[in-house]
Amino acid sequence: MTAPSSDAFVFFGATGDLAYKKVFPALQAMICRNGLDVPIIGVAKSEWTTEQLIARARDSIARSAQEEGTEVDERAFACLAERLQYVDGDYNDPATYARIKKALGAAALPLYYLAIPPVLFDRVVKGLHDAGCAGNARVVLEKPFGRDLESARELNRTLHRVFPERSIFRIDHYLGKEAVLNLLYFRFANAFLEPIWNRDHVHSVQITMAEAFGVAGRGTFYDEVGAIRDVLQNHLLQVVALLTMEAPSAGKAGSSNEEKVRVFRAMRPIDPGDVVRGQFRGYRAIKGVAADSNMETFVALRMFIDNPRWNGVPFYIRAGKELPVTATEVMVDLNAPHPVFDEIEPPDSNYFRFRLGPEVVIAEGARVKTPGENMRGESVELVARHQPTRNKSPYERLLGDAMRGDNALFISDECVEAAWSVVDGALSHEAPVFEYAPGSWGPNEAKRITAPQEPWHDPGREAIIPC
Ligand code: BG6
Repeated sequence: MTAPSSDAFVFFGATGDLAYKKVFPALQAMICRNGLDVPIIGVAKSEWTTEQLIARARDSIARSAQEEGTEVDERAFACLAERLQYVDGDYNDPATYARIKKALGAAALPLYYLAIPPVLFDRVVKGLHDAGCAGNARVVLEKPFGRDLESARELNRTLHRVFPERSIFRIDHYLGKEAVLNLLYFRFANAFLEPIWNRDHVHSVQITMAEAFGVAGRGTFYDEVGAIRDVLQNHLLQVVALLTMEAPSAGKAGSSNEEKVRVFRAMRPIDPGDVVRGQFRGYRAIKGVAADSNMETFVALRMFIDNPRWNGVPFYIRAGKELPVTATEVMVDLNAPHPVFDEIEPPDSNYFRFRLGPEVVIAEGARVKTPGENMRGESVELVARHQPTRNKSPYERLLGDAMRGDNALFISDECVEAAWSVVDGALSHEAPVFEYAPGSWGPNEAKRITAPQEPWHDPGREAIIPC
């Protein structure tokens, strides 16, 4: 039975950064592609008017169109502007929720999107409930979901007092990315992978999420959160789970929560001794950041999965701001073959490489013979998929799914708690934070995370061949 679609879209944090960068462009795209036709209510405490919100939406959509080298679709924007309403108010004040109720009019199945800091979630959920706005509603929550395992559990309890699990949509935009969906597809749609996707053939796995920019105007948010909570506990652990979990049962490929929970539970909780934290030089001078901040803008760590498939295979993960490039890449290094030819095989010549962003690339590293009399070879890459991403944005896809009540690409309560159980040990802020130069690959200390004979693989710039 298909669930009924939500008949109103209410987003908290309407004047904030996330709404500006992602939500307005996603709403405009939902109008263009699917004719989204419901009231769209932005809530914030900025003392704005609906006209100001429309102007902000216009600005956001123009910026996004410019980035994509296109023009604003004026007809779609006129539809968006017509549906937009702004509700002002403090999230602690019952009058705010009374105003939301009034703005909702006849809508009976609203979707509330909490694009606000997680400390405000319980306040808003309670406010909606007390005002009688929560019955029959859906709620979408931005990451990070809690600050640690305990607060995530508490948040789940708070939510469950008001919403059934099927109406709760914990968003991780990585799960709406074409490249991440392709990871799941490539693994389970190809019979050749399964026999080698295990400890007998995989030597190690590296994941790097590098960003060549800083905290992009989000100093206050970032200084509360840091790299581990911002991207490791969610985006990167989800990628590890998709790489390592067992196949979801047939017909349930979309929803992988059960298998992810199983593999998270097999992960050894991260040992603080296997973590190196870094902070780029200049971070403490950023607006909103404490002058003596100990927050990490870089993390590198090693982790293991204690199950028959992965036992003993190291997973090396690192993420950081102000690194030399913007690229997220997974390298699955295969064991070296038995030597047959009279040459020293360079290390890492057999691998799978998944570029998860900004481009989508799936490539396999192999050796082929160089022409000539000698049985000597060279390393090449066989490319299975190589394209820029010009599809639905993850937010368009995921918010559209949530409006339709489809929670396959959202994170369940068990899954979010299982992921926190893995990283809880790495959260100690007493651990030192090493300074690194902007534009470098993080602090030198990160080198000790990998084995000496297998240094970090630094993703390069991807030259996309136009199709
Ligand atoms: C967000 C983080 O979730 O993901 C940001 O809060 C990060 O700090 C961003 O820059 C990266 O996402 P994407 O899709 O741009 O790679």
